[in-house]
Amino acid sequence: MSKTMHRILVTGAAGQIGSELTATLCERYGSENVLATDHREASASLHEGCSFERLDVTDKKQIEILIDRYEIDTVFHMAAILSAIGEEKPQLAWQVNMGGLYNVLEVARERNLVRVFSPSSIAVFGPETPPDPAPQTPPLRPTTMYGLTKVAGELLGDYYVHRFGLDVRGVRYPGIISSETLPGGGTTDYAVEVFYEALRKKHYTCFVREDTVLPMMYMPDCIQATIDLMETDFGRLVHHCDFNLASMSFSAGELAAEITKHIPEFTCNYKPDKRQTIADSWPHAIDDSAARDEWGWKPSYDLPSMTEDMISRLSKKIGL
Ligand code: SER
Repeated sequence: MSKTMHRILVTGAAGQIGSELTATLCERYGSENVLATDHREASASLHEGCSFERLDVTDKKQIEILIDRYEIDTVFHMAAILSAIGEEKPQLAWQVNMGGLYNVLEVARERNLVRVFSPSSIAVFGPETPPDPAPQTPPLRPTTMYGLTKVAGELLGDYYVHRFGLDVRGVRYPGIISSETLPGGGTTDYAVEVFYEALRKKHYTCFVREDTVLPMMYMPDCIQATIDLMETDFGRLVHHCDFNLASMSFSAGELAAEITKHIPEFTCNYKPDKRQTIADSWPHAIDDSAARDEWGWKPSYDLPSMTEDMISRLSKKIGL
């Protein structure tokens, strides 16, 4: 049997996934048992009920102090620089993604923590990966700094599992679509921006080509997958830090067409920028049979149900 998680620290808790993950962890484990951290001040609503502390993950001492002070036994390490910003600031991406993860793993090893979640991404794949679908274990040769930090992060996490017996787990998230917190600096951000612009301006200029197909996932499935993997018995796992995870795949044009079913006046044009090169290096679909076999992964949303839910939530949020 795996040890139970009691006292949880979330890094990157103000981010797109971190904010909704923190809320769910508070509901599930009690907000008195969750410490939200981020390098920037989070808005009050994001961490209502649970404690919040500023944390720069590149500073190991700060991590040690918080883990000791709050008697943390589990870390969800969500802080990272994403793909588009990573290409603008590759040195920073290396420092935050590799330095941050190394610090978290070292503190976890030294204090014998129960578990660490270390997310990976479809960015681990590169132009040589079979794209339809990307297998669980192809040669990983990404062409972005973000992708290569995620490959190294998976290997480092697995190393800590096998060398030190630390229970580290992770999934390769596809592009995540959500209505609460905007994504920041990723290549798949267009799949969120398009909803806001469709509702506000009835028009969106998309930064990838209309025929660009990428794997995507709706936030409720993303949170479900994260918690399901972390609550699975360790003995069931063959993989640890590199689970492929799939839900839906669609082109930018197909997403726009789906939105038009709800907002008939909506129009979309396409002006690819530098992010197109990153998108072109990633696969179209993902073989997630290992996640399905080892911990029962099964997504709930598809393109129509995600689109309907996004439009209904965002309409309320924007006040339409
Ligand atoms: N959404 C991420 C990005 O675009 C992929 O993990 O960088």
